[in-house]
Amino acid sequence: MKFDTPAGRNPIDQLKVVGRPTDRIDGKFKTTGTAPYAYERHDVAGPQAYGYVLGAAIAKGRVRAIDSAAAKAAAGVIAVVTTLDVPTLGLGTMNYANLFGGDRIQHYHQAVAVVVAETFEQARAAAFLIRVDYAPEAGRFDLAALADSAPPAKADSGEGSGGDGAERVGDFEGAFARAPVQLDATYTTSDETHAMMEPHATVASWDDDKLTLWTSNQMIAWAKGSIAKILRIPKRNVRVDSPYVGGGFGGKLFVRADAVLAALAAKAAGRPVKLALTRPLIPNNTTHRPATIQRVRIGATKDGVITAIAHESVSGNLPGGVPETAVDQTKLLYAGENRLTSLRLATLDLPEGNAMRAPGEAPGMLALEVAMDEMAEKLGLDPVEFRIRNDTQVDPNEPGRPFSHRDLVGCLRLGAERFGWARRTPTPGRVRDGQWLVGLGMAAGFRNNLVMKSAARVRLDPHGTVTVETDMTDIGTGSYTIIAQTAAEMMGVSLDRVVVRLGDSDHPASAGSGGQWGANNATAGVYAACMRLREAVAQRLGINSADAVFTDGEVRAGNRAVPLADAAKAGELVAEDAIEYGNLSKSQQQSTFAGHFVEVGVDADTGETRVRRMLAVCAAGRILNPKSARSQVIGGMTMGVGAALMEKLSVDKRRGFFVNHDLAGYEVPVHADIPHQEVIFLDEVDPASSPMKAKGVGELGLCGVGAAVANAVYNATGIRVRDYPLTLDKLL
Ligand code: MOS
Repeated sequence: MKFDTPAGRNPIDQLKVVGRPTDRIDGKFKTTGTAPYAYERHDVAGPQAYGYVLGAAIAKGRVRAIDSAAAKAAAGVIAVVTTLDVPTLGLGTMNYANLFGGDRIQHYHQAVAVVVAETFEQARAAAFLIRVDYAPEAGRFDLAALADSAPPAKADSGEGSGGDGAERVGDFEGAFARAPVQLDATYTTSDETHAMMEPHATVASWDDDKLTLWTSNQMIAWAKGSIAKILRIPKRNVRVDSPYVGGGFGGKLFVRADAVLAALAAKAAGRPVKLALTRPLIPNNTTHRPATIQRVRIGATKDGVITAIAHESVSGNLPGGVPETAVDQTKLLYAGENRLTSLRLATLDLPEGNAMRAPGEAPGMLALEVAMDEMAEKLGLDPVEFRIRNDTQVDPNEPGRPFSHRDLVGCLRLGAERFGWARRTPTPGRVRDGQWLVGLGMAAGFRNNLVMKSAARVRLDPHGTVTVETDMTDIGTGSYTIIAQTAAEMMGVSLDRVVVRLGDSDHPASAGSGGQWGANNATAGVYAACMRLREAVAQRLGINSADAVFTDGEVRAGNRAVPLADAAKAGELVAEDAIEYGNLSKSQQQSTFAGHFVEVGVDADTGETRVRRMLAVCAAGRILNPKSARSQVIGGMTMGVGAALMEKLSVDKRRGFFVNHDLAGYEVPVHADIPHQEVIFLDEVDPASSPMKAKGVGELGLCGVGAAVANAVYNATGIRVRDYPLTLDKLL
């Protein structure tokens, strides 16, 4: 189904199932430990051996030799595969360091060997008997030292570029120089690791030249294609299955070493192999969110109208890598005639930087929205009012291009009212509650909405059961449930008549889970397949499909009412289709908006910060399931607290690795850190997004939260910290 005009009224708008708060279908399996994650797939492929991965002990250089004789002779060992045993492998989608093979070490903990044994303990014991002889080389590990000489990032050197890689509208420098009120501030954010609960894990099995991977991955079609490229085997010989994913956060968008090494190990062992990356291996072996240095300049008139806005960000990555796109939101969030954004990229020999939890906007909003708070203070304006004054209903770069739907102002006004913003004391450091200095902070929330092709297959059996098959994943987000709700609505049945099968590359390829695009696109693909199934049903029943109403388990037309199951009496009906998008998202800017409000207490003696309450008001099109959407948003808000207060990978700048590479040294917020979170969704639809009229909401819950926390800490203490996370040492 091609979608290129705003959606009119359609069967989804009945809202008998869609739009209602619905418990997660997979919830009971997950909470009772009966949802099998990749490492727990004992049921597949026969007796499995265990793999254990050894990571490189240098950040850059060459492997001269590997002595694995003792490991091979150790108890229970079936096979050892070292990186010198295999030629350098291909690169998968968005991999830019080789995952295995050859003698080059591009980053610390890059895999150098995998041991296969009868038990996990035997494999681990043998791995430490391997002796690796390295020829180390000097590397570049210090972003701050390289920032000034970092060249423009390729992604940003296109049109409007002045040769320095910057994108310009109007004359930023002139307008900024003339502005009566100016802010010029630099903000730094840290390297961060995804810290999902389930580590990267895979069971691999070969059947002749056919490879099956039971793994944990967000993007099944990408994974299938990547594995074929990396191992240089035909795509048709690869199957990937990932029905349950214990968190991805971007770390499982692209194939990682677990899948590749499990495949190589299974080949060498001649039997299925199960393998997980151990927790201490993950931060350096896989990807992370790169640190940024961001300069924001804002110029405004005395009454708070922005006339000039600039956002420049520097990050680092391995050769061939991409920048952290921290300036994206600044192109769109506020009006202002003169604009400049730029991304520069330093070459570092740290592990691969890549997507993590709202890449771009999450760290970008932390800088921009603290800058907006600083500017409001300079102007003597309330920070809510300052943002409202600079709202725009069109893309500021292309005034002829409107937002498909934008109610940032509604989010900010409602949020201010519900949070009791009017009771805030604007002068910082004035409110005390016992030992606590109390402050309120706010920020806008912003994240773009992406549309992409997504396919599904739907079956109707003679019992009236509707089965949906798509390679869409559920990474803890609620995909099973909203897909079931969509199919139930479209086919006019109750939720218990719908079965959803996800994560299998034998199913039609979906948009997958990433960039908060999963919900809208995957359900729109199911919508398209259901439209086809409705046609097939009507045809079987001899009803004109345009007249048919699917409701209460029946198909109704005129004065006829036939049980839906009757259509499949003569045999199961199967329909498949994809949603494909036309130019609508090019002629209109699709984004999602929020108002984030936070209250903190800062211990007057120790500087310890405690979040006391949080509120997010979100405008993100139709909310398909308010219950799972709320869970997504409070998860995002929690990540925002992590970015503001806790999360930081510490770089060893001499040896080139992340030191605190486990969950003891890398702190993430937990439930107990945040006593009260409230989420409000504005009641809206966005007919330009898809026939579902929904948009992304998960990452919106994160983007802006870090700034709201930091602004609250400033309001509490009067100390403006521009280097995140905002740990207590910075307040003393
Ligand atoms: Mo998200 S970082 O695109 O999985």
